[in-house]
Amino acid sequence: MALLKRTSPSSFSPLKYISLPSLLIWVMATYIILDLGMHLSTSEDGHVHSQVIKSIKSKISETAAEEEENGSAVMEDGRNADCNSVEAHMDVQEDQPRKPEDPWNQLKWGLPPAECRVKGHLIERLDPLNNYRRGVALGFTTDLDDKTQIEQWFLGTKEDLNKAKRRVFIDLGANEFTTSFLWFMQRYPCDFTEIHAFEADPNLFKFPTGWDEEANWIQEPGWGKVKSRAGFVPSWLLERIHYYNKYAGVVDNVSAVNITRFMKEELKLTPEDTVIVKMDIEGAEWNILYDWVKDPEMPQIIDELFVELHYWHPDNKWDFKRWGRVDATRMLADLRFRGFYAHYWD
Ligand SMILES: *[C@@H]1O[C@H](CO)[C@@H](O)[C@H](O)[C@H]1NC(C)=O
Ligand SMILES: *[C@@H]1O[C@H](CO)[C@@H](O)[C@H](O)[C@H]1NC(C)=O
Ligand SMILES: *[C@@H]1O[C@H](CO)[C@@H](O)[C@H](O)[C@H]1NC(C)=O
Repeated sequence: MALLKRTSPSSFSPLKYISLPSLLIWVMATYIILDLGMHLSTSEDGHVHSQVIKSIKSKISETAAEEEENGSAVMEDGRNADCNSVEAHMDVQEDQPRKPEDPWNQLKWGLPPAECRVKGHLIERLDPLNNYRRGVALGFTTDLDDKTQIEQWFLGTKEDLNKAKRRVFIDLGANEFTTSFLWFMQRYPCDFTEIHAFEADPNLFKFPTGWDEEANWIQEPGWGKVKSRAGFVPSWLLERIHYYNKYAGVVDNVSAVNITRFMKEELKLTPEDTVIVKMDIEGAEWNILYDWVKDPEMPQIIDELFVELHYWHPDNKWDFKRWGRVDATRMLADLRFRGFYAHYWD
């Protein structure tokens, strides 16, 4: 190891004691460290740096999301919602006395948030008093099909459901094309790539003629571009629709389809897909839902569920004596407890 030769040995210099190779290594190491630091903080779009931050952030938010999903989180207003039970998700009991000043019974069309979150998100409180045609019951509308009370609670307003490559809407009990089916196409904030409509009555679901949306725009003086009439069903949407003239249920036969098998094995739906299900099948929902609350795969596959539960109550006098309104509320609570982002559909 050759020491660096100095011409003036009388003056002290640290370099005298450092070998040339080790000095070079020291200089290079410093350069590499500085360069790496600069790269991490200023490289184009801070890519590497943001990757590191992102992975740290995602670890933190994963834990937070898990806590929320587990329902153990303390709510913003300090309520400690212990949501690890079906009862906690029932929130309001039918026999609870009405409050003298209750905006949600007297003033508001929509519903307040429930104590317990589902999939980490707020969702409307279950309403055992006016769950059946709430807008009509409260006198806001005469439209029996009105669904204003749940629009503000769509999962599609809390997450971007358009990010999934496959975006599926399944309508069980589709009825006529222009009822709930068209309502979902027009109001739900997702561009569905695939639509499956089940309607057992062949006289109900009829495909309309495709509509030329571009020819619908006109220029009116004093206005922006406007439409000559409300948009109808564009031709491209019709191509995405698959219609099944069958009952949706739990068994397969000539007139019925086991919907769980259909979703898992035929459509091969996975948690990566966006899947929205509407179910209004006149009592057949109960057997499907009894299966789904026991099947941990289904709340992973289905992003959001709208279900009309059929039951008997003096208010509706439906011919479903096996179930009462409390059973319906309990089923919705059970679905939410299992992780289904589920709403009453009436
Ligand atoms: C959430 O619940 C799961 C399963 O019960 C448990 O493994 C996990 O530790 C819980 N997470 C938090 C943050 O409480
Ligand atoms: C098919 O199954 C449904 C539901 O169980 C039942 O109501 C119907 O009678 C069955 N149809 C035939 C043809 O077996
Ligand atoms: C319906 O399909 C599911 C999924 O394949 C299966 O687990 C279930 O047993 C089927 N139900 C009946 C009644 O066959």
